[in-house]
Amino acid sequence: MDNPTLDFLKQNQPLAESRQGESLEMAREIKDPNGKKFYIESYGCQMNFSDSEIVASVLMDEGYDITKNHEEADVILLNTCAIRDNAEQRVRARLKNFTQNKVKNPAVQLGILGCMAERLKEKLLEEEKLVDIVCGPDAYRDLPRLVQEADSGRQAVNVFLSREETYADISPVRLDRTGVTAFVSIMRGCNNMCSFCVVPFTRGRERSRSAYSIQAECRDLFEKGYREVTLLGQNVDSYNWKNEETGEEVSFAGLLEMAAQVNPLLRVRFSTSHPKDMVDEVLHTMAKYNNICNYIHLPVQSGNSRVLDVMNRNYTREWYLERIEAINRIIPGCAISSDFITGFCTETEEEHQDTLSLMEIVKYDFAYMYYYSERPGTLAARKMKDDVPLDIKKRRLVEIIDLQQLHALERNQGEIGKTLTVLVEKTSKRSEEDFYGRSDENRVVIFPRQNYKIGDYVNVTIESCTSSSLIGKAVGPAEIH
Ligand code: SAM
Ligand code: SF4
Ligand code: F3S
Repeated sequence: MDNPTLDFLKQNQPLAESRQGESLEMAREIKDPNGKKFYIESYGCQMNFSDSEIVASVLMDEGYDITKNHEEADVILLNTCAIRDNAEQRVRARLKNFTQNKVKNPAVQLGILGCMAERLKEKLLEEEKLVDIVCGPDAYRDLPRLVQEADSGRQAVNVFLSREETYADISPVRLDRTGVTAFVSIMRGCNNMCSFCVVPFTRGRERSRSAYSIQAECRDLFEKGYREVTLLGQNVDSYNWKNEETGEEVSFAGLLEMAAQVNPLLRVRFSTSHPKDMVDEVLHTMAKYNNICNYIHLPVQSGNSRVLDVMNRNYTREWYLERIEAINRIIPGCAISSDFITGFCTETEEEHQDTLSLMEIVKYDFAYMYYYSERPGTLAARKMKDDVPLDIKKRRLVEIIDLQQLHALERNQGEIGKTLTVLVEKTSKRSEEDFYGRSDENRVVIFPRQNYKIGDYVNVTIESCTSSSLIGKAVGPAEIH
């Protein structure tokens, strides 16, 4: 029987290990970048943004300085996403902008990192003549060597995927300047071959990072003044770390507990949960700790069981709705968000209606919505016909977006009159006089700043709302126990 997971692993892993080892040795010998500056821009999911902090750490350890101005950079890095065709088109358009940097200074190096680098490999160098460096998500320790190689006029590529790399020992350089919220990667890769998805090909096998190194990173962040961590993985529910020496095993519920115990003032969030793996133990752990936020991102993709089957999601509509029921029972008031794909191969009008009807049952607080974009190499691209016409995909997407907006507004209206505990993250974009924060349930709350500070927990009474945010008034500092 055709097993894309096994095929994929056979193709990638053995080569990955030997070549990655070679590169590491070489990287350790280089240490003199002569005050060169790098600039990094990130695209795609939170994991990619988190990876850019690893990249920054690797380069700064080797003596490179970071700059926020690409015009003064010697090395320009784009950490890319390949999830949909338009994500790649955006990067290609951005690359064109950097032509000017090369025209002004031919020594400037242009590097493509992340999922697009992994997907296209050397082909990227042929297609984008300006690019000097192509570096996949498991090869960031090798980046100093790749920059050095490109410096001597050779194009430099490392796209080997590893079975072990978790970057656990690298202390990320936080690129978000607010100093209140941080991403913490708890695992890498994905083993779930959803038929539409390129991630298993660009990120490789699933690996869980040591629970103790994750807890230490959370503690360090707390001591530096951070008040919220988001634990990241493509499927956090399958997190499973085993200490090979002692045999100790930590599941995701155990890890959540370890993170929650760092300090009651440190909020813990996580993303992404997979409906097939989300167990009640995780929900009970969330209910047990006040500082584990009452918010779950549980992407459904489609509300129809046949479509879910061709998507290879490994759950049915009924299973998903039972998981929603479990969340509502164990954590009353928990906010829930989702991802949707419209117009996946063979999706009929009735099946699309099933997605709308599922939305009516759940009434999500928030959602990311897309129309299907065929990705080369995926199971769907190889075995199925992308047969829903673009205008139909787009019309179905509009219907989903419209309904979601109604539900988000309804959910937010339900918060009016309540007093919520808000963690202040930054000044509101709309007014210097207002703060932007989020409630436990991940709702955006805007309120007049008064004498509060960024990083404070504040009780805010909600007075009005839009579909995307709540507007309120601070009524006092929040007491956290
Ligand atoms: N691991 C998460 C999960 O399983 O739900 C999602 C990861 S993926 C980076 C984020 C979202 O992109 C998916 O949930 C899906 O809705 C969307 N997506 C993935 N592949 C897609 C494709 N080929 N076309 C359109 N949307 C896609
Ligand atoms: Fe992609 Fe599925 Fe893995 Fe999510 S679980 S990253 S959608 S293969
Ligand atoms: Fe994109 Fe890669 Fe994330 S494809 S969504 S950056 S894992």
